[in-house]
Amino acid sequence: MSRLRLGVNIDHVATIRNARGETYPDPVRAAEVAIAAGADGITAHLREDRRHISDSDIDSLDALTKRRGRPLNFEMAVTDEMLAIALRHKPRAACLVPERREEVTTEGGLNVAGEHNRVAPVVAQLKQAGIRVSLFIEPDPRQIAAAASVGTQVVELHTGAYCMAVRERRPEAEPLYRRLREGAAQAAALGLEVHAGHGIDYETVGAIAAIPEIAELNIGHFLIGEAIFTGLDAAIRRMRALMDTARDEAAA
Ligand code: PXP
Repeated sequence: MSRLRLGVNIDHVATIRNARGETYPDPVRAAEVAIAAGADGITAHLREDRRHISDSDIDSLDALTKRRGRPLNFEMAVTDEMLAIALRHKPRAACLVPERREEVTTEGGLNVAGEHNRVAPVVAQLKQAGIRVSLFIEPDPRQIAAAASVGTQVVELHTGAYCMAVRERRPEAEPLYRRLREGAAQAAALGLEVHAGHGIDYETVGAIAAIPEIAELNIGHFLIGEAIFTGLDAAIRRMRALMDTARDEAAA
């Protein structure tokens, strides 16, 4: 099994900064700490309403990740504005996500099956600019098949429902986990690279890391919360260790 990559999402460092309209804590400093702690990449979501990451954060994160040779994974809605920003920066990777202003966080996956004609041209333009494209989707066989048909190289499977069911000790956790496993196998069989993310914590990371087709996890909110107690460096190192142990045990 290949080594599992960890992308650290630093959006919520900016959430804390923006809660007071301050200049600190700086998400770029968090990205530097994350890279030093072993993050394989930095993920940031520039939302339409700029509620956390700002345009100037993206400028600085782009410069930092290029300087440090780590990929910036630019999370973006499927809009002309975000496409123009992505094409200007040419980050190593872009992840297309659904976005609704009133949502607290990205609540569901992109409806690629229902919006083929809106998603396909954006995927094509990003790919033409040399950007690796990922689609954030539910582990739903229809969405996975649609993702392959629009020409994306990567799918990121939404782990939020599974992680929440585990935390709430609900019996749905088991079928939701099966869906993730089967979705990862389907996507890999279609030739897609498989990533996963949303809602992952220390408790849920092991089972997700054990799914052999998954090549990358993107984790943010829990790590930033944990950093309050242990520091960001220690939080990331512990997550990395849990990922590696689960992967090793699954391969044994
Ligand atoms: N992947 C995607 C596509 C996301 O939208 C998010 C949240 O911004 C994450 C991963 C990280 O989720 P969390 O912050 O819950 O770890």
